[in-house]
Amino acid sequence: MIKKPFLIFFFYFLVTVSGKKDDTCDEKPCDKGWKLFERPSGGWCIKIFYEDFIKKPSADLKCTSQNATLTSLQDQVESLYIAYTVSKKIAPGSGSIWIGASRTKACLNSTKTVACNWSNSFEWTDQSATGIEGLLWDRSGPDNAGRNQDCVVLQAASSGYVGTMQTGTLDDVGCYTDLDRTKTHPRKPVAYACGKKAKF
Ligand SMILES: *[C@@H]1O[C@H](CO)[C@@H](O)[C@H](O)[C@H]1NC(C)=O
Ligand SMILES: *[C@@H]1O[C@H](CO)[C@@H](O)[C@H](O)[C@H]1NC(C)=O
Ligand SMILES: *[C@@H]1O[C@H](CO)[C@@H](O)[C@H](O)[C@H]1NC(C)=O
Repeated sequence: MIKKPFLIFFFYFLVTVSGKKDDTCDEKPCDKGWKLFERPSGGWCIKIFYEDFIKKPSADLKCTSQNATLTSLQDQVESLYIAYTVSKKIAPGSGSIWIGASRTKACLNSTKTVACNWSNSFEWTDQSATGIEGLLWDRSGPDNAGRNQDCVVLQAASSGYVGTMQTGTLDDVGCYTDLDRTKTHPRKPVAYACGKKAKF
């Protein structure tokens, strides 16, 4: 006897869901070309754009022109999606992808220490991701080498490694980057990932 109310509830659920679908016609939570991720803060759409040697401030502006911002990373599902999509596209090459994180005020002038460690040296700038699951650093980082590494890139390489750095890991770098001194640098910027709130 206990099953009947559940069935009725389920029936109304189906009607409600299909009704909603009819109202919105073919509208999707993300624009065409953007990929939907579910976050604790709600739906989030991510799109990767390719541009060799781009610097962080230009990537910021280009995301703004997409009504988006450089994306944070909620977790490893998101970072691996971005890293592997780019790795496949640029194969057999390698490079760096700009994402939306910046060094915290408290750690601006600090190398990696007990107080300024992997979990709190950077913060997400898009106000969307929560927590630190998206922070998978290369084993050296965030070391703030030269004390001017206030931005973050995600590594991409179809071979799985760029030098000793593994595809899908993060590294702290200068926002104007020291990675593009030569046009053949294996970690030169190749892409940036923008994110924006899903429509529903
Ligand atoms: C950005 O938003 C504005 C205002 O809603 C709209 O006119 C424009 O088409 C949007 N641009 C993109 C690339 O989505
Ligand atoms: C950063 O730290 C170095 C070494 O401790 C110090 O010489 C420098 O003045 C500091 N810079 C700022 C802006 O605090
Ligand atoms: C990182 O530093 C913060 C602030 O000092 C501290 O609360 C936290 O436990 C540290 N985390 C690790 C993993 O060392």
